[in-house]
Amino acid sequence: MHALDSRIMPPMLGVNVDHVATLRQSRRTSYPDPVQAAMLAELAGADQITIHLREDRRHIQERDLQILRRTVQTRLNLEMAATQEMVKIAYEAKPDSCTLVPERREELTTEGGLDVAGNRDGIRKVVKTLKDADIVASLFIDPEVDQVRAAHRVEADVVEIHTGRYCDARLVQDRGRELARVVDAAKAAAKLGIKVAAGHGLNYQNVLPVVAISEIEELNIGHAIMVGMERAVREMKALLARGK
Ligand code: PXP
Repeated sequence: MHALDSRIMPPMLGVNVDHVATLRQSRRTSYPDPVQAAMLAELAGADQITIHLREDRRHIQERDLQILRRTVQTRLNLEMAATQEMVKIAYEAKPDSCTLVPERREELTTEGGLDVAGNRDGIRKVVKTLKDADIVASLFIDPEVDQVRAAHRVEADVVEIHTGRYCDARLVQDRGRELARVVDAAKAAAKLGIKVAAGHGLNYQNVLPVVAISEIEELNIGHAIMVGMERAVREMKALLARGK
């Protein structure tokens, strides 16, 4: 039996549209618009739209969150730091779920998982506030069983396992070791009754071994999905030909 056959259902696909907002912000224009990208992603079958409202607002803006809250037809997952400001914004916007992520201003992207084990009381409070507002509370963690246990102790609904190290590993043995860590964390979470998601760095080449982990119910993918160059150029050429 092929490893992928062990799954009854494929994982849900959450499409992260931050990267569309990054392009827009690089020129401070009104396009490309992550709201439009989210609609197209849903038309193509996305099960969820994921956005990260960063404290420095470098890509997604509050305007995007507000419009997406009204237009997303599937589920809206808001990634955010566990700060008072963000909790207030989430409380008012009411996304379907919030994924708490660590945030450092100088990083290019979310570099590591949340240290739940090292900040149990603070994270427990935020999880409770979110759950009281009927928002599913998810924690983005490194693939470590201790972090999974801590997530269970703070009563998180979901853990999203950071797949970045698996994706970045170049040597076959390193990649195998990193994948095994993801498998162990996913199994530990499922055993504790926590829903398991995963994401970061997944692309067309490395996603299938992660899909084969049957405990993982959801994948959040952004950067690799920005492939549309061929069609976009064709459409521009067709437009130029029409106008000649
Ligand atoms: N999940 C989380 C928590 C993230 O921070 C990111 C990156 O914004 C992703 C998933 C998606 O990662 P990528 O853009 O590399 O697919």
